[in-house]
Amino acid sequence: MQDEISDLRREAKERLASVNNLTELQSWRSATLGRQGAVTGLLRRLGELPPEQRPAAGREANALKRALEAAYEARHEELVRRERRRAWRAARLDVTLPGRAPSLGRLHPVTRTLREMKAAFARLGFQVYEGPEVEQDRYNFTLLNMPPHHPARDMHDTFYTTRPGLLLRTHTSPNQVRVMEKLRPPIRVVVPGKVYRYENPDPSHDWMFYQMEGLAVGRGITLGDLLGTIREFAHQVFGPDRRIRFRCDYFPYVEPGLDTAVSCMLCRGAGCRLCGGTGWLEAIPGGMVHPQVLANCGIDPDRYTGFAFGAGPDRIAALKYGIDDIRRFYGNDLRFLEQFC
Ligand code: DAH
Repeated sequence: MQDEISDLRREAKERLASVNNLTELQSWRSATLGRQGAVTGLLRRLGELPPEQRPAAGREANALKRALEAAYEARHEELVRRERRRAWRAARLDVTLPGRAPSLGRLHPVTRTLREMKAAFARLGFQVYEGPEVEQDRYNFTLLNMPPHHPARDMHDTFYTTRPGLLLRTHTSPNQVRVMEKLRPPIRVVVPGKVYRYENPDPSHDWMFYQMEGLAVGRGITLGDLLGTIREFAHQVFGPDRRIRFRCDYFPYVEPGLDTAVSCMLCRGAGCRLCGGTGWLEAIPGGMVHPQVLANCGIDPDRYTGFAFGAGPDRIAALKYGIDDIRRFYGNDLRFLEQFC
């Protein structure tokens, strides 16, 4: 029995050493340690030995079993590691794999629109200026002819900060004042930027959106200059075959005030869902700078006049690309954003 045990040990170890993969290892295991395996057979035959030999032979046979089990575990671990390394190397070096296209970044549709708008106004002689998003109440409202308790303030659902007098700007119009405080006429600037409104989002409203303020101040500037500027801009951005409509509107910081609409690009003025059946899409409000606002900024309203307007880049982008819900612009859904190249 002793010889049989040491033969089995030697043989099993030799065969284990020549095992080269996990499949071979499993057959080694069942031939050696399985229910029909050599070690199991040996243990079963212990009962046939004379009683005085059984304890010593039993100890030896059990020691063999444990040793072979441990050898199996070690070999198993080694083979698993080796196969993992091999798979990794194969993946790394597989020159037959199709190439992976690098994902290219692209411009956000509103960024593209902002760039086009800036370029269009640059051709008309406007320079670009920027102002703060956290704004003082007096710039956002008071100096624009909206003193405390003025009813027009209700139109702006405002995010206030905990610091009295500081808020998130509700429009880019405060930059009219900032620019006029800094620059002397002749002035021609556009001011793009984000604005904030404490509003329930819906398909045409969001709590953050872009505006682009325009301001021109000089001698002899008339309403005709405003109409011509907006018409030129609208044709550059929306295309030369758009019709433009001007109507009176009211804003405390302009007199007269007006709203510009362009003929609907979907139905070409016939009336559809996008334009609510009117054939027109309202795009750019504006007006002649109120004499009081000029005076608030230290510019003599008897010598100078000016016009201002506030364009909505998100709405313009939505109109250009036929997007029915402006909330998509800031939803960070790549499937949406990747459509614009
Ligand atoms: N600030 C206005 C708004 O947020 C838009 C606007 C209207 C701007 C008339 C102007 C203007 O400069 O003249 O709704």
